[in-house]
Formats: sequence, C-alpha cells, structure tokens
Amino acid sequence: MKLENPWKQNPWFESVAVAQERARKRLPQPVYGALVAGSERGQSVSDNEAAFAELGLAPVVAGQQAERDQATTLWGQEISQPVVISPTGVQAVHPDGEVAVARAASNRGTLTGLSNFASKSVEDVTATGARTMFQMYWTGERDVMLQRMQRAQDAGVVGLIATTDWSFSIGRDWGSPEIPEKVDLRTMVRFAPKVATKPRWLWTFGRTGTIPDLTAPNLAPPGEATGPTFFGAYYEWMTTQPPSWDDIAWMREQWQQISGGKPFVLKGVCRLDDALRAVDAGVSGISVSNHGGNNLDGTPAPIRVLAPIAERVGGDIEVVLDGGVRRGSDVVKALALGARAVLIGRAYLWGLAANGEEGVGNVLDILRMGVDSALRGMGLASIHELTPEHLIVPDGFHRTLGGPVPAPAPR
Ligand SMILES: Cc1cc2nc3c(=O)[nH]c(=O)nc-3n(C[C@H](O)[C@H](O)[C@H](O)COP(=O)(O)O)c2cc1C
Repeated sequence: MKLENPWKQNPWFESVAVAQERARKRLPQPVYGALVAGSERGQSVSDNEAAFAELGLAPVVAGQQAERDQATTLWGQEISQPVVISPTGVQAVHPDGEVAVARAASNRGTLTGLSNFASKSVEDVTATGARTMFQMYWTGERDVMLQRMQRAQDAGVVGLIATTDWSFSIGRDWGSPEIPEKVDLRTMVRFAPKVATKPRWLWTFGRTGTIPDLTAPNLAPPGEATGPTFFGAYYEWMTTQPPSWDDIAWMREQWQQISGGKPFVLKGVCRLDDALRAVDAGVSGISVSNHGGNNLDGTPAPIRVLAPIAERVGGDIEVVLDGGVRRGSDVVKALALGARAVLIGRAYLWGLAANGEEGVGNVLDILRMGVDSALRGMGLASIHELTPEHLIVPDGFHRTLGGPVPAPAPR
C-alpha cells in the first residue's frame, strides 16, 4: 500500500486570500511584487478591497431557494457565471500563462480577456477554444493598431477591450520590483539569489524547459515571429499621443468594420460624464474600473462609483466592474449595484501562480460558490433578482465623479 505524505499541501485552496499567500511564498519577490502592483501611496488599491467590506448583506432565516441560477449573457455571449477574466500583462509567472488561464475560463464556461502585453500570442490563446476578448492600449501608429485589430479578428476573438486610462504614474512608496529587459543568461545570474530561494517556482519552468518570456508577441510587426521586449512595448505606448474622444470613436468604428460588429468595450471608466461620452462614441460596453488601483492614485474604488453610472447608462450599454473582487459576495454586491458581471485580475493571477490552470479554475469555483451561498442566504433564486435593496449601504458610500456640479450655496 502506498502511503500518502500527510504533510503534502492540498493544492486546492479555499479562498483567494489563501491563493495569494501561496503565491507570495512560491514566487521570487520581484515577480510577486509585479502582481501586487498598485501606485503612489496605494490609496486606490486598498480602497478597491476595503469598499466592498463596507457593504453589508441582509439574510433571510427561512424560505431560501433550493435552486439558484447564475448564468447570464455578456456582450453577446452566454456565460455560466457573472465573472470574467480581466486582461493582465504579467502572466509569465507560469510557463503556460495566458493559455492556462484561457483553458480554465473556457472549462468553466466564461470569457477570457487577453492583454496586448500578454506573454502568449492571441492565436495560441484562441486555439484553446476559449472565447477571448482581446485588449488593446492606445499605442503605436494608427496603421499598426489596425494591423493588431485585424490579427485579433483573424485569430477569432469575440470582442475588443480598449484600455485608455493608463496615467504612467511612477513611484510606489513601497518600491517597484525590478523587471529585467529580457531573460537571458546574464539576467539569470543576476537574479539568481532571489530566484534560487524559490525552487518550486523554478521547477515549474524547469519541467517545461522554458524560461519566463518577457516579450509581447501580440505586438510583433506582421511577418515577424518575435514581439518587442516589455520595455520596447512600453516605450511605444509612452510616446504615443494620448487618445481623444474622436480617437475612441475612430477605434470603435474601425473595429466594427474589421470584425463585422463584434463588441467594443471601453475599460477604465470612473466618471459619469465619461460614461455618457462612451455611449456617444458607440461602445457596446464599459468596465467601471481604476485599473486595479495601478493608475491615478486617489481614484475611488469602482464599487463606489458604479451605481450612479449604471443607473444612467446601464439601459444603453452593458456595464461591468473590475477592481477589488476577491469573493462571491463581492460579485453579488457589484451586481446588486448595477453591474452585469465583474472582471477579475489579481484573484486569478494568485491562482495561476499558486497552481497553474487548476488554480485559476479554483478561483472561479470559489467565486461561483460564494455567489451561490450569498443568493441562498438572501433567499434569491437568481442573480437577476439582485437590487440595491439587498445591500446595506452606509451613508455617503456612493461617489458621482464628473456628475452635475451643485450650485454654490448663497452667501
Ligand atoms: C499585474 C497586473 C497587470 C495588468 N495588466 C493589464 C493590461 O495589460 N491591460 C489591462 O487592460 N489591464 C491590466 N491590468 C488591470 C486589470 O485588467 C484589472 O483592471 C485589475 O486587475 C482589476 O483589479 P483586481 O486586480 O483588484 O481584480 C493589470 C492588473 C494587474 C494587477
């Protein structure tokens, strides 16, 4: 009889916080630091999670529903749970990176977002069968943007996410991790002391005979196999003239022509006036988001600005939220305040770092179970029944940014 090692860690984790702790232990410090991210003093990144904890739920004591449904539709796609993978650019934490994430999302019946700074090509990701939303920053010349859109369309993506909120904020009070220009022998020797203390992480790559890839294959010029390095890509982005609302409308129009009308989503909306302008620009959806608090620090948590935006434009376009979602009850709170679904970032990155594809699936399952138990606790049979009345919202919780400015009080 083969005895199981009783001290072997169960790879399944019970909460996103446990996945994060495993990721922290497993990853070399600079790699973990790149996932933690945040900006400036970290006000926004902390508020994203803290704001969810200010909202309460009101349970029933009997009359709970035996069957509870969380399937919905988003941007023309059926999804089995109201949780979608947000595009993130640092998935070289695992050799399978975005491909593992896409497989997990696809197995669970939801969509995956793929960053244009991803470590895997859009062709490799769509080849998994995952329904993929390709994300683009406003970077490069227009003809280059068109080539990238065409490539994504040819690869079979189901929609485009434009992320245009990045403010190039530099300087974190806790210090930024060092990211090498590329991973070659010299870099490996230099990083060796930090990496050698994490043999399990090293082994994940050792097994596949690969090293972490820090290039951006989706930004490769046509006909070239290799994309620019992360820094090359960042430089192009930094030196591109910021977009105007006409540029957003142009991008949407081009995507409409290239894709034959697949959804175009603008990610990073925090203000009511911007949400209205996005509707005017013809977008199919927005993500109410502060880029996970990695951007303009001091931006309130998206959950604080969601309700005024969703109330105003939720009838015209499909509104989602991202930022700070760590448990099923967070998903339920966002839905109750008007989001059609949520996108997750760090939660699945922790899962990926902790246990690859299964870890990402584990995170999606935790969120599904959390949504289910919240619905049960509140006596609801479906996520579609959620309204603001199901929440306990403290006074002054909501913020309307870019809304009507009240007239000054008479002196
Ligand atoms: C490490 C990291 C990399 C990210 N890269 C991108 C990216 O390439 N494109 C993008 O649109 N958003 C990017 N984001 C933002 C996420 O898509 C999402 O808005 C954010 O992570 C949501 O907050 P959460 O991490 O609290 O869930 C990134 C976020 C993190 C943490």
